[in-house]
Amino acid sequence: MALTRRHLLALSGASLLSPALIGRAVAAVGGMDLPIPDLWDLGADSAPKLDAIAARTKFLQGQETVTVGYGQGYLGPVLRMKRGATARIDLGNKIKETISVHWHGMHIEGVQDGGPHSPVHPDAVLHAALDVDQPASTLWYHSHIHQRTGMHVYYGLAGMVFIDDPDAADSGLPKTYGEDDIPLVVQDRSFEAGGQMNYAPRGPSRMMGYRGNQILVNGAIQPRASVPKGMVRLRILNGSNARIYHFHFEDGRAFHQVASDGGLLPAPIEKTVLTLAPAERVEIVVDFGNAKAARLLSFPDTNMGMMGGGMMGMMGNSASPQAVAAGDAFEVMTFDVNSSKTGAVKKLPSILAGAPTPDFDEPVRRRQFNLQMMGGGMMGRMMGGGHGMSINDASMDMGVINEKITKGETEIWDVSADEMKHPFHVHGLSFQVKSMNGRDVPYNSMGLKDVVLVDGTAELLVKFNRTADAKTPYMYHCHILEHEDLGMMGQFTVS
Ligand code: C2O
Ligand code: CU
Ligand code: CU
Repeated sequence: MALTRRHLLALSGASLLSPALIGRAVAAVGGMDLPIPDLWDLGADSAPKLDAIAARTKFLQGQETVTVGYGQGYLGPVLRMKRGATARIDLGNKIKETISVHWHGMHIEGVQDGGPHSPVHPDAVLHAALDVDQPASTLWYHSHIHQRTGMHVYYGLAGMVFIDDPDAADSGLPKTYGEDDIPLVVQDRSFEAGGQMNYAPRGPSRMMGYRGNQILVNGAIQPRASVPKGMVRLRILNGSNARIYHFHFEDGRAFHQVASDGGLLPAPIEKTVLTLAPAERVEIVVDFGNAKAARLLSFPDTNMGMMGGGMMGMMGNSASPQAVAAGDAFEVMTFDVNSSKTGAVKKLPSILAGAPTPDFDEPVRRRQFNLQMMGGGMMGRMMGGGHGMSINDASMDMGVINEKITKGETEIWDVSADEMKHPFHVHGLSFQVKSMNGRDVPYNSMGLKDVVLVDGTAELLVKFNRTADAKTPYMYHCHILEHEDLGMMGQFTVS
C-alpha cells in the first residue's frame, strides 16, 4: 500500500488541524458503574450461539454510537473454557462485513486459530470446536481480517477468554467472577460529532497507531467498580489499538502482579507501576483492606517515534485523554470499597500453585524478525517511497508463507524493532522472553508470554506443539493494529 498523494495531504498543516483530528468537547460521562460482561462456560456438550451484531451503544450522555459486538452492542461475553475439554461455540455473523474470531493466546491448531484465512462471511456461522490444553490463563478473542483488524476491534469486536485448569492445584487467588475476580478490558476511543467513532487513521495516527481521547473499561468511560474489602484480583487486557498504559494508583499503593499472558507467575511480584502494551494481559491482586476508594491512573503513552512526538505536538493533545492536560497522568477508573462485603481471600499466597513451568529444549535454530515501519527511512516513506510496513523487508501477503517451522523444535527468535516500540505477537504458543537488549530476563519476572513490547531487541524461546498448514497458517505481527493492517505481519506453517 504505497503512500499516496491523499496521505501526503493528510499530513499538511491544514488537515492536521481539522476538527476530525482534534479531540472535541463531547458530553463525556465518566463514573458509570463498571459493566461486568456475561460469563459463558463453554464445553463439549452444547454449542451456544454467539452472533456478531451491529448496534447503537450509549457511551455518551444523550448520544448513540454505532458499534459492533459479539452477542452484545460492544465487546462480548467472557468465554470460560476448561483445560482438557473441547470448547464448542457457534459464531454467527449478522453484520454486513466479513469478520473472523481469532483466539488470541490459545495453543490450538492453525485450522482452529481464527486468523485472516478463516473468514466468517455475512450470514454465515462458524462451528468452533477448540481443543483446550494449556495452563490456566487470561486470553482474548477478536476479529482478525487482513487490513480490517484495526477497524473491527475499534468498533467493538473483542472479548475475553478465561482458561481454567481443573487439574492444577488451587492457586489460592480470589476467584469469584465479577466480585473479587474482575475482568477489565481497557481501551481508548474518540467520539466525534454526533457521538460516532469514525475510525479513520491517516497521517501520524496511521504511522504511530490510532489513539483515542477517552478511556473506556469494559465499554464504559472511566467507570466506577464496587469491590469487597480485602484482596481483589483484576484481570486486565489492553484492548487498545495502539496505546501503551503505565498503570498505577493515585495513592501510590503497591499491588501484586500474579499472572502474565500465558498464565500465573511462579510467585507474586510487587509493583507500583505496571506497563501494559496492546494485546498484553496481566492479572494483579490489589488489597482494598483499608476500605478507601482508589483511582487507577495511567501515565501517558510516549510511544510516538522520533517524528511522532513533533507531529502529535502539532496536533494539540488529540492523542491524550482530554480529561487531563497532555503530559499528566490520566484516570482509567475508580474502585469504591463496599465495607459490608469482605473478600474471600485474606492473604496473598507467597508462591502460586498451578503456575506453568517452561518446557523448552536446547535451541536448534535462530530466526531473525526485523520489524520495519518503512523501507528507506521515514522521510523516504513520507515522500512517497515505501510499500507499507514490513517484517524482514516483506509486507504481509496472504499468498506467501514467510517461515516454515518444525513442530516440537525449540528455536530462538531474534526480534528487533524500528523507530518505535512494537508489541510483537506470535500465534499458536506461549514463548519465553530470554533477553531484552542483551540483558537476560529471569523467567519469574515475565512468565510465559504471547506478546512482548520490543524496544530495541529481544530474544524469544519458542516451541510449537500444534500444527498449522499453508491454508490456515499462524501469524506473527506487531499488535499495534494499524501497523498490522499496514503489513507488519508474516505467516508461518508448523508441521
Ligand atoms: Cu491478537 Cu494475530 O492477534
Ligand atoms: Cu493472536
Ligand atoms: Cu508496530
